[in-house]
Amino acid sequence: MRLAVIGCGYVGLVTGSCLAEAGHEVVATDNDVARIETLRAGRLPIHEPGLDLVMQRACAAGRLRFTGDLAEAVGAAEAIFICVGTPPLESGEADLSAIDNVARQIAAAASSPKLVIEKSTVPAQTGEQLRRALAVYGRNSDTTFRVASNPEFLREGTAVYDFFHPDRIVIGVEDQEAQRQLREIYRPILEGKFRCPVHQPVCPAGRPPAFLVTTIASAELIKHASNSFLGLKISYANVIADLCERLGGDVEEVTRAMGLDPRIGPQFLNAGLGFGGFCLPKDIQAFLRLAERHGVDFTLLKETEKINKRRIDQLMEKIQKALWVVKDKRIAVLGLAFKPNTDDVRFAPAIEVVRRLLAERAVVRASDPVAMEKARAILPGVEFIEDPYRAAQGADALLLLTEWAQYRELDWKRISREMARPLVIDARNMLSPAEMKALGFEYDCFGRPALNTRTTLVTA
Ligand SMILES: NC(=O)c1ccc[n+]([C@@H]2O[C@H](COP(=O)([O-])OP(=O)(O)OC[C@H]3O[C@@H](n4cnc5c(N)ncnc54)[C@H](O)[C@@H]3O)[C@@H](O)[C@H]2O)c1
Repeated sequence: MRLAVIGCGYVGLVTGSCLAEAGHEVVATDNDVARIETLRAGRLPIHEPGLDLVMQRACAAGRLRFTGDLAEAVGAAEAIFICVGTPPLESGEADLSAIDNVARQIAAAASSPKLVIEKSTVPAQTGEQLRRALAVYGRNSDTTFRVASNPEFLREGTAVYDFFHPDRIVIGVEDQEAQRQLREIYRPILEGKFRCPVHQPVCPAGRPPAFLVTTIASAELIKHASNSFLGLKISYANVIADLCERLGGDVEEVTRAMGLDPRIGPQFLNAGLGFGGFCLPKDIQAFLRLAERHGVDFTLLKETEKINKRRIDQLMEKIQKALWVVKDKRIAVLGLAFKPNTDDVRFAPAIEVVRRLLAERAVVRASDPVAMEKARAILPGVEFIEDPYRAAQGADALLLLTEWAQYRELDWKRISREMARPLVIDARNMLSPAEMKALGFEYDCFGRPALNTRTTLVTA
């Protein structure tokens, strides 16, 4: 099918590249001219494993191209994916101005029937507003618009894998034709008929994704409800970590046992610095505001958010307790991205921690395998050092703020020798307290006793 993708961020680039790889013809557009230039030059503006390969293959096959002209992208498309950002407003509500903006442009540019699909994360009832905007701004009487919701569940860092191997594809529709078109768009993925860039030569056998057809409002709610629940799970594990610290338990032992219960599941139970990124914090806020606006008491979610914000305060307390005076202390920070395998630093807890350290006038040296460039733009006053060993040299404390796998493999003995004071605060519970202690470190983390000899290095 001929598709247009509006918004060339994480979601737009993954959606456009993967659907082109799966055989569709995709024209992608963005209002950021520099971004379009970068993409046209064959470069990716984001770090996402495997995406460069998919994008290059799709472009080389002539099935994916980029334009700065939205009308051109919309022109020949039968279906249009809206993938623009929906950042939080001051109030916490989702800023839908980019959605409104592209809806008006689509309406003005279209001269044939279009299926307009919300892929951006939006509050329930946005579909209705979108349909109205398309209708009132449409200028061509031959044009009809169908609206659908198709929330995206990809995880940054494994986005290509997630797009080709989703657990579920959710489509919210209000007519049979929209359902038929979306089934057609996803047919290669439902039938496993695409060249998978992750598995060579063939993907392991597995269950095909569930294809769920719902109302538009349900589809919109599913996305916010899912992300909010994930945040809730993390906050729950973090409170368990606090209890473990007071009562002498080990949060890893507790959550591992909890996770073996299939009704609970093991994921998103890692205690530590809490969640960040462009999705969970803003989606929780938007969901909360939506509930408030419609008179539904969602205190549960308010607490989730509160617990998450407190994680940073708790880390700062640990730092203050260990260092006594923070001013002028040299602090090495390992990890800036909100999670491993991405360079995304939006709402990353590590960024907030560094800002607080700078406010206390600590001397910060920070390192991250891929996120330093993006962090540099928002963290003046920090020395960025690629080599983690150099970042640690002469430091009074080292903070582990993102759980990059390579940090587990560092020569911690060498680091211990080269720091001014071998003090590690592991805000992601990555390392073994007993092993760190044996290497001569003062070591702190969240919810694990410092001398638990049973805990071993956690593997990925
Ligand atoms: N990043 C994720 O992991 C993820 C996962 C699932 C869903 N989502 C949701 O998908 C949406 C997009 O997220 P993202 O991370 O890709 O955002 P992003 O900020 O990386 O990308 C958005 C893109 O839209 C472009 N844009 C904004 N206004 C535009 C306009 N008027 N016309 C054309 N282009 C415009 C921006 O220039 C940018 O390139 C959000 O609603 C987000 O919540 C994100």
